[in-house]
Amino acid sequence: MNKVWTPNSWRQQPIVQVPTYPDAARLAEVEADLAEWPPLVIADEVRRLRGSLAQVAAGKAFLLQGGDCAESFKEHSANNIRDFFKVFLSMAVVLTYSAGLPVVKVGRIAGQFAKPRSSDVEKRGDVVLPSYRGDIINDFDFTPESRIPDPERMRKVYRQSAATLNLVRGFATGGYAKLDRVHTWMIDALANSPVGARFEEVANRITEAVEFMRACGVTSETARELESVSFYTSHEALLLPYEEALTRQDSVRGGWYDTSAHFIWIGDRTRQPDHAHVEYFRGIANPIGLKCGPSLTPKGLIELIDILNPDNIAGRLTLINRFGHDKVEKHLPDLIKAVRDEGKNVVWSCDPMHGNTISAGSYKTRPFDRILSEVKSFFAVHRDLGTWAGGIHLEMTGKDVTECLGGAVNLVEDDLATAYDTACDPRLNAKQALELAFLVAEELKVDRANRPSPLLEAAE
Ligand code: PEP
Ligand code: CO
Repeated sequence: MNKVWTPNSWRQQPIVQVPTYPDAARLAEVEADLAEWPPLVIADEVRRLRGSLAQVAAGKAFLLQGGDCAESFKEHSANNIRDFFKVFLSMAVVLTYSAGLPVVKVGRIAGQFAKPRSSDVEKRGDVVLPSYRGDIINDFDFTPESRIPDPERMRKVYRQSAATLNLVRGFATGGYAKLDRVHTWMIDALANSPVGARFEEVANRITEAVEFMRACGVTSETARELESVSFYTSHEALLLPYEEALTRQDSVRGGWYDTSAHFIWIGDRTRQPDHAHVEYFRGIANPIGLKCGPSLTPKGLIELIDILNPDNIAGRLTLINRFGHDKVEKHLPDLIKAVRDEGKNVVWSCDPMHGNTISAGSYKTRPFDRILSEVKSFFAVHRDLGTWAGGIHLEMTGKDVTECLGGAVNLVEDDLATAYDTACDPRLNAKQALELAFLVAEELKVDRANRPSPLLEAAE
């Protein structure tokens, strides 16, 4: 490990899951160009998110993180972004309402374009080509030309991320997300469904509460929270040449920030303590995530925490657990105990997607009951140890896709072909995502009686 960190000190370390570009000069030209472009997010916003995550670490808020496995150039319509945003807000409001806690909202959006792969090659029949690694690197089409890494794609990702971010900022602050418009968040894919009806009930109760508060003199003029929402962006910062180009020093308060997103995470395949990704992440001041899969030992986790958060800053580090429904009870307790015994400040978040992927014919899918089972075990383990199950990390969309099996919509294997649109892993569709939010809300309700009310605390 280098003693001195710089935005490019990762280049001295071994690296995996990053392509070798055939045209190095062109890569250098794109990197130099991007380094001159404006930041996508600013340090003040990033610090505000870190503060909110510190509340999660303290058991006073809950984290909802979700979005596509991989964004793509093909799927970039305003309707897609709007429908994702509406479903995500609906889920957040269900959780807030049931848990009686603030929900920190972080999308896997506006930058989630680079994918780690379990194999370097993809075989179809006799043809073997390099794997697709996300639209920021190469193309999904199965031809030799499409799979060549092209640095120009980074500029396209920057522009698409900026456009997406512009729209979600508008939605979040321009009146759309006002709590008295909760009924308008219902999307076509949910209308006339049982889970949609359940949401209508919650929306009715919220509307009544907002009217009551208005009668008491609390309006969007007096309480900003009723007027807009804080929504943050996140992605796996896998393609370090891109992340380095967007790494900027805060001119006012100092410190280096990755300005490609508010929150970035390290994938389960790139968390080797002496490798490039950990080196890059240790020097930036953003709140960061670390994916924790079955191969991570308690000792290995503490070593990584010491590198990534040596000052033990609350809100800096979120541990995103992704073990699989049948492994979580075996692995999670020992990690939690090690972290607790060492007095480390972390957010514990459950990714019930990546440990529960199975094949069904030629499709990758995930059964809803396994996803739910991992979530329930996550809550049960934390309840048992007296620690805070702080968040959930999902692959989901606002569209009516057929990628994950089961749920109340009871999707079966024969349905998968109907609308299997993902560029990478299978996502929960709008109904399944909202259904899961209601089930997570049940878990959060269990402990509600034992928690101090945030409102009472604020009044003290
Ligand atoms: C992901 O979040 O899309 C991902 C690849 O996760 P993991 O690193 O946990 O496999
Ligand atoms: Co994924």
